[in-house]
Amino acid sequence: MKGKFIVFEGIDGSGKTTQINELSKWLMETDLIPEKNQLVITREPGGTELGKSIRSLLLDTSKEKSPDSITELLLYAADRSEHVNKIIRPTLNKGDWVISDRFCGSTVAYQGYGRKLDIKLIKDLETIATEGISPDITFLLDIPVEESIKRRINRKDDRIEQEGREFLSNVCLGFEELCEDSRWKKISAINSIKNIKSEIQSEIKKLIKNE
Ligand code: ADP
Ligand code: TYD
Repeated sequence: MKGKFIVFEGIDGSGKTTQINELSKWLMETDLIPEKNQLVITREPGGTELGKSIRSLLLDTSKEKSPDSITELLLYAADRSEHVNKIIRPTLNKGDWVISDRFCGSTVAYQGYGRKLDIKLIKDLETIATEGISPDITFLLDIPVEESIKRRINRKDDRIEQEGREFLSNVCLGFEELCEDSRWKKISAINSIKNIKSEIQSEIKKLIKNE
């Protein structure tokens, strides 16, 4: 039996970490996950041991180490291939559930709409890295760029976060377009943590009911 694969997407500061914590707490209290199975929380970039090294290369803020945009794309693809093969696929095959903070949608939004790289190239790399693994449901935490910047005010920006407002607005546009996929649920991230949490819970219940 195959487990469920849940993904959270959204710009930095949209509340992904907060909602992943809330959802995992709630899932542990319900009987939606069979008793013999587990819940694995992971993320991209950096969900594997090798991925942690790739993450630090990708988010390093020193100018000399800043990658060319194709190099950046290939590093995200390498991180994803390792993540799918070492964590996501084996976990789902055991019937365990996976929640991932970001997946392929982030590459389309950041490298495609943000960096303006060719979407066909991004999709081809996605096919190579995922080998057919796709989320059962993706939540987009939708937040205005200004609000996300306010929420990150006390946090040190990583290299991607330093790109600025225009870049982030393009990324948001990318996420909007991806939301046309029926397995994506757009959630307004400016609601209260409690309301967002309930909306997510009801979508998960629907997912299980319709299987
Ligand atoms: P992300 O993982 O997407 O970067 P976080 O979950 O770390 O986002 O949230 C960024 C900041 O915003 C944190 O300080 C968090 O407490 C706060 N936050 C998260 N969700 C909400 C919300 N619905 N309303 C107000 N503040 C929020
Ligand atoms: P993340 O750790 O999720 O940042 P945060 O917790 O602040 O939301 O992601 C690190 C950065 O990597 C983030 O700015 C988005 C970027 N990213 C891409 O540009 N492309 C990708 O394919 C992925 C997965 C992330």
